[in-house]
Amino acid sequence: MDINILGIESSCDDTSAAIVSNGILLSNVIASQAVHSAYGGVVPELASRAHQQNIIPVVDQAIKQSGLTKDQISAVAFTRGPGLLGSLLVGVSFAKGFALAGNIPMIEINHLQGHVLSQFVHEKDKVAKNPDFPFLTLLVSGGHTQIIKVNDYFDMEIIGSTIDDAAGEAFDKCAKVMGLGYPGGPVIDKHAHQGNHDAFKFAKPHIKDLDFSFSGLKTSFLYTLRDEMKTNPNFIDENIDDLCASLQYTIISILIDKLKKAVKQTGIKQITIGGGVAANSELRDTLTETAKRCGWEVFIPERKYTTDNAAMIAGAGYFKYQKGEFATMDLAPDARLKF
Ligand code: KG4
Ligand code: ZN
Repeated sequence: MDINILGIESSCDDTSAAIVSNGILLSNVIASQAVHSAYGGVVPELASRAHQQNIIPVVDQAIKQSGLTKDQISAVAFTRGPGLLGSLLVGVSFAKGFALAGNIPMIEINHLQGHVLSQFVHEKDKVAKNPDFPFLTLLVSGGHTQIIKVNDYFDMEIIGSTIDDAAGEAFDKCAKVMGLGYPGGPVIDKHAHQGNHDAFKFAKPHIKDLDFSFSGLKTSFLYTLRDEMKTNPNFIDENIDDLCASLQYTIISILIDKLKKAVKQTGIKQITIGGGVAANSELRDTLTETAKRCGWEVFIPERKYTTDNAAMIAGAGYFKYQKGEFATMDLAPDARLKF
């Protein structure tokens, strides 16, 4: 019998639903919330309201696009956390209602494990090679920056983590001070293509072990703008491409340096990336070049599976379904869920 998993993702500002059938992705619908761009960041109350408006049409679309019917769904997998509580509540409540109505089991998924496991989600006719366990994942998003040692599907150890801002936050906060809107990563990525990454030097932190820090870089960026604008009020506009290129180059070097250290420390040379910042073109290119030079094997998912999506939740749900690990109706979302 086919195992058809409906995945629901609502941890931040994307409402997404996907269907995975026997491990193959049939549909993945994402409604992104444009409402936050005017505020320079995600406004939690607006996010949960938008999830409420989006969730039914998004699930409806995902089921329609999969070619299945509602009664063919075997289980519903959902993001339990970490994330914004009000946003998570919408997805968790919807999953409970859907499971109850269809008399099917529910499967809870940790959002970060979902990002890691996005590597195993493949579309029909696009089946690609999977990494072998153990492998390392560089998880870089708006809320997290971690190096994870993945021993098995749900056996993961965080071996390095940010002690302050996440990498995506560094992109977003620096974009905000340059007046580039939210999210900042994609806009900085675009400008950086035309810029010179040696034009400006920003502070690189010296943090021990495999941990990261981005707050010093953010301050150094801010001080450069403040000092330069004293003599030239048009400094940002006139140097936007070089500023973006230099900032992006510094963030990517911090990430790659730690990854090299992690490979040295663990001896593991299979690397995957996940999280929104993994969509960054310079990170993808640098990782590919470093892999060639250092003899690593890197697995880089398509961009649409690195940012928040339900395909990764449905895919992770498929693995838990096979193990018979189901959630109970009294389960609550957990904004700070650990693994
Ligand atoms: O994984 P994600 O969609 O949501 C979280 O769980 O945080 O990641 C969103 C983050 C934002 O900080 C956004 O600026 C960043 O990913 N991002 C990028 C790019 N695309 C998205 N950062 C750098 N370059 C990009 N191309
Ligand atoms: Zn995420």
